[in-house]
Amino acid sequence: MNNFEITTPTTIVFGKDQINRVSDLISNHYSGKSVLVLYGGGSIERSGFLAQLKGELSAFDLHLFKGIEANPEFDTLMKAVEYIREHNIGFLLAVGGGSVIDGVKFISGAVNYAGDPWEVLLREPGKVFTNALPFGCILTLPATGSESNSGAVISRSSLKEKRTMGGPLFFPKFAIMDPTFVATLPKRQLANGVIDAFTHTMEQYLTFPSDNLLQERYAEGILSTLLEIGQGVVENPTDYKLASNLMWCANQALNGLLRCGVATDWATHMIGHELTALHGIDHAQTLAIIAPRLYEQQFEQKKAKLAQYGRRVWHKTGTDEEVAQEAIVETEQFFRSLGVATHISDYTSEYSETAAIIRQRFEERNWTGLGERQLLTPADAEQIVLNAY
Ligand code: NZQ
Ligand code: ZN
Repeated sequence: MNNFEITTPTTIVFGKDQINRVSDLISNHYSGKSVLVLYGGGSIERSGFLAQLKGELSAFDLHLFKGIEANPEFDTLMKAVEYIREHNIGFLLAVGGGSVIDGVKFISGAVNYAGDPWEVLLREPGKVFTNALPFGCILTLPATGSESNSGAVISRSSLKEKRTMGGPLFFPKFAIMDPTFVATLPKRQLANGVIDAFTHTMEQYLTFPSDNLLQERYAEGILSTLLEIGQGVVENPTDYKLASNLMWCANQALNGLLRCGVATDWATHMIGHELTALHGIDHAQTLAIIAPRLYEQQFEQKKAKLAQYGRRVWHKTGTDEEVAQEAIVETEQFFRSLGVATHISDYTSEYSETAAIIRQRFEERNWTGLGERQLLTPADAEQIVLNAY
């Protein structure tokens, strides 16, 4: 087992009717009065939740920032930064899915940053956020795990860029996770949630067999649970048993636990982020496009683990070769059974240069060795994308 270190400081309050905890949870971390609630395009207005939340937060001097879009935009987030500076806000409350929560992580660091925060996202040497405003979140879409991890992904569509950031400053102080929010999600977002959680697990599992036996079983438990509930929750999001299991799976898939003591991959995500940046394809859709082709292209390196996955998760029998191949087919079929297409041409007709652009970008960033063995080259990424056309 590899050495590891883990800190997961976010307080999780999980279940129905927990919203009345929000005021106390904020007060545990903030003694002032100025709270900014940040949210997306308006689903929480339409559901009536925002009105309820205002009631719960009546003791605070409450401010609202609406309009953090899916794949949160740098320019929008900088408007929130200006607002916070002008109004001397002391605590941020993100209400939404991964995009709102990620956006708030970025904002919390950018508020007190002296330079242009874009340079932090570009990872320019020495350019880092050194402090962050405290923030908590109310999760409305189970998918990313952002509610209790310290990562964020920020887009800048004018540059066709999507960049990652994170670090110990960016754990939410608390996450309220109420599965009844799942009931109002459209099918597309439900399927996205299942696939994102599934792929987060695969990124930390589908590498090579490890001697961290418990971690292997944790990952297989999450994958098996998502297979068990996936189609059901997309069809019946009001079913609390299904909704609560999706919410907990998505959280556990990326709260930091699965990576402990094992190698991780993440190449599917790195390539997928480029498809969102270039074509605006939903995050989870990009994973459904890339993952099966990456497993095929990296077949020899991943064969032993694919075979383990095929036997333990899909209950296949046969040689390693047979089981591994069948496991890839089943995985893609699972994504498609949720209504998610798995080729780039299903989403855009302007893809002829995509593979070459991604190769060039990876070369420029010196990403010469991605994957669990740092062997996946920009040329491999190009081939994977070509195979996904
Ligand atoms: O904006 P509103 O009107 O609220 O609508 C949202 C949005 O349009 C809607 N929605 C959310 N909750 C709802 C709801 N509609 C009805 N009922 C509800 N209860 O769903 C739409 C999509 O929301 P979004 O937050 O974009 O989805 P998701 O949670 O999938 O987040 C995707 C973003 O997270 C990043 C992705 O790259 C992408 O930018 N990721 C963040 C990660 C992390 N921080 O750890 C890891 C992931 O791999 C991922 O990269
Ligand atoms: Zn993801």
